[in-house]
Amino acid sequence: MARRVAVVAGGHSKFGKRYDATMRELCAEAYKPIYDEGITQDKIDATVLSYAASQFTGQGAGSALIADYLGMQDIPHLRVESACTTGTASLRAAWGMVAAGLYDVMMVLGVEQMNRVSSATATEYMSRAGDMRWEYPYGISFPAFYALMASRYMHEYNMSHDILAKIAVKSHHYGAQNPKAHLPKEIPFEEANNAIPICRPLNLYDCSLITDGAAAVVIAAEDRVKEFTDRPMWIKGIGAGASEMMIQDRPTLTSIPGAKRAAKAAYEMAGVKPDDINMAQVHDCFTIAELIAYEDLGFAEPGKGPDLVENKENYHDGRIPVNCDGGLKSKGHPLGATGVSMTYEIMKQMRGEADKPSRQIKDVKYGLAHNVGQSGQFVNVFIFERGWS
Ligand SMILES: CC(C)(COP(=O)(O)OP(=O)(O)OC[C@H]1O[C@@H](n2cnc3c(N)ncnc32)[C@H](O)[C@@H]1OP(=O)(O)O)[C@@H](O)C(=O)NCCC(=O)NCCS
Repeated sequence: MARRVAVVAGGHSKFGKRYDATMRELCAEAYKPIYDEGITQDKIDATVLSYAASQFTGQGAGSALIADYLGMQDIPHLRVESACTTGTASLRAAWGMVAAGLYDVMMVLGVEQMNRVSSATATEYMSRAGDMRWEYPYGISFPAFYALMASRYMHEYNMSHDILAKIAVKSHHYGAQNPKAHLPKEIPFEEANNAIPICRPLNLYDCSLITDGAAAVVIAAEDRVKEFTDRPMWIKGIGAGASEMMIQDRPTLTSIPGAKRAAKAAYEMAGVKPDDINMAQVHDCFTIAELIAYEDLGFAEPGKGPDLVENKENYHDGRIPVNCDGGLKSKGHPLGATGVSMTYEIMKQMRGEADKPSRQIKDVKYGLAHNVGQSGQFVNVFIFERGWS
């Protein structure tokens, strides 16, 4: 029987173009609040470092470097890599080790420093996550994968770009209230709808940012939780899913099959339904990805995601608040940090510690994180439960 595991502490660096900090300094910034709570290597059994692509900095063996810099030379560490799901894949690995009894307390630290290279080079590195024989040589990049999905969705459901622009407006509305966000500014609808094209039909404001940043969480086994907090966030359900490697082989472009499988597994393990979820952090690497997530997670029927957007049900006071920290779109998307940042945000919201009342979601009992890698080849869904009344 697996042991119950809870998130007991967390920290988060400022996201942005962080030319002022090295990768190790970003990690230290995320770890600082945890250190300030007195959680040092004598209280942690092992760490998992989540970073997706060593090409950005050229640093190999990053987990050794970071453990050393954070004063954790005496405890074991490992690195997990799983494209944009690296953060939640790391959390899943750590959860497994704690649930199985190998360790009692672990820290998961996610980081990426993407702006040491130009946007063009970053785009090239990310594109290498596509099939190097049949996709990459023909120039398909991440904006192009999601542009294909957007085109198909718009065609099948007769949707205009307005809906995608409204998702971007919402993300920037909340990002503007998040001091940790990369691009904390409101954008008017007209600007979002008419920004320069990146890969039609997607424009600048449909795209997530190329970001530097780090986030960290500490997890503990049930019998150790009280040493750290009286406000544990239990890991209640975990689902992982996969989809065909090449987008051309998918049965559909208006849904991510692996996301549906991951969601089903997470809901079953947690014993909850989509209606029970009080908030979600979804992988909005592009606005169309957020729209598709509403449907894959069961918050809307297929083709009905646009109604949820029109009715503002995705706002902090709506039926299913989504990405009220700005999401990947405005808070930013440092690949390895993203899944950890989602977990951190759910913990803060559950604790009533969102930065401003205007983005605080009321009474969160269940929070969901949805983290997608590549164009859906890896998906992790986590359901967290508030552990206090
Ligand atoms: C869209 C994209 C190509 C723009 O990159 P870029 O042209 O190098 O942009 P720059 O960094 O030079 O910034 C130019 C301006 O656009 C803004 N900007 C850049 N990216 C933006 C974005 N995604 N959304 C909104 N504004 C953005 C910058 O703030 C800057 O504004 P300023 O001139 O007022 O300061 C880049 O953000 C991108 O590739 N995003 C997708 C990342 C991705 O694929 N991630 C993996 C997903 S799975």
